[in-house]
Amino acid sequence: MQFDYPKIFKSHRATGYDDFVRAYIPFYEHIMALLPKLIAQAIPEGNRPILVAGCGTGNELLALATAHPEWQLEGIDPSPEMITQARHKLTAYSRVRLANGYVSDLPLGACYGAVTLLFVLHFIPDDGAKLSLLRDVAKRMLPGAPLVLLDIFGRPAELSANLEVLKLMMPPAADPAVVAERLRTLPNRIKYIPERRLATLLEDAGFSAPQRFFQAAIYGGWIAYRKVSLRTSC
Ligand SMILES: C[S@@+](CC[C@H](N)C(=O)[O-])C[C@H]1O[C@@H](n2cnc3c(N)ncnc32)[C@H](O)[C@@H]1O
Repeated sequence: MQFDYPKIFKSHRATGYDDFVRAYIPFYEHIMALLPKLIAQAIPEGNRPILVAGCGTGNELLALATAHPEWQLEGIDPSPEMITQARHKLTAYSRVRLANGYVSDLPLGACYGAVTLLFVLHFIPDDGAKLSLLRDVAKRMLPGAPLVLLDIFGRPAELSANLEVLKLMMPPAADPAVVAERLRTLPNRIKYIPERRLATLLEDAGFSAPQRFFQAAIYGGWIAYRKVSLRTSC
């Protein structure tokens, strides 16, 4: 089942995305700066294309392309409006390939050397759809290749305690009433899961146990590697 992302990430959700992430994901720029280093240490050879799955407005692609002009980069996103913004942002980087679609639309023989999936999985229901996306990713990766994930996570009590911490991280200019309403409704909008469940999904999709490299408030970051034993065309 495909989640209807084009409908969610359209109009102001797409055009206002970059402003939104900078307010509600306070360390977003630090993660973008860390990402190329994290991938570089995980793929010593780096001669295979890297996929940014759910590339949105192209921020990860820009960070990776700037830090490593030699990398072959591909981005895919089902929202036409997000991809349009990514195209504008990346006009100077003609070697970055962008596609409007789902990971499942990509050829099985793509054999990516690394994949990033940042702030995507937490929008997808855990009714088989999260697992299906992770499997679609795993099938297109080289054995041993790293997957970098960032998501809102936790058990319900953990999430609500960490939402209070996130409130303390909001920029001073943010309207407290807007912030309070957005954070109050977040648990109903986001398909967050505990870390243990994420580990199970990754295992079932053909990845190693995830290593958490980051946490701030409700957000976690993990790196997992595609198992060598997984049978695919790569
Ligand atoms: C919150 S945005 C994150 C964008 C970007 N990764 C970032 O960190 O700024 C989530 C994006 O995932 C995309 N998406 C959702 N399901 C997807 C799928 N199955 N394959 C690829 N992208 C998907 C959405 O269209 C949306 O642009």
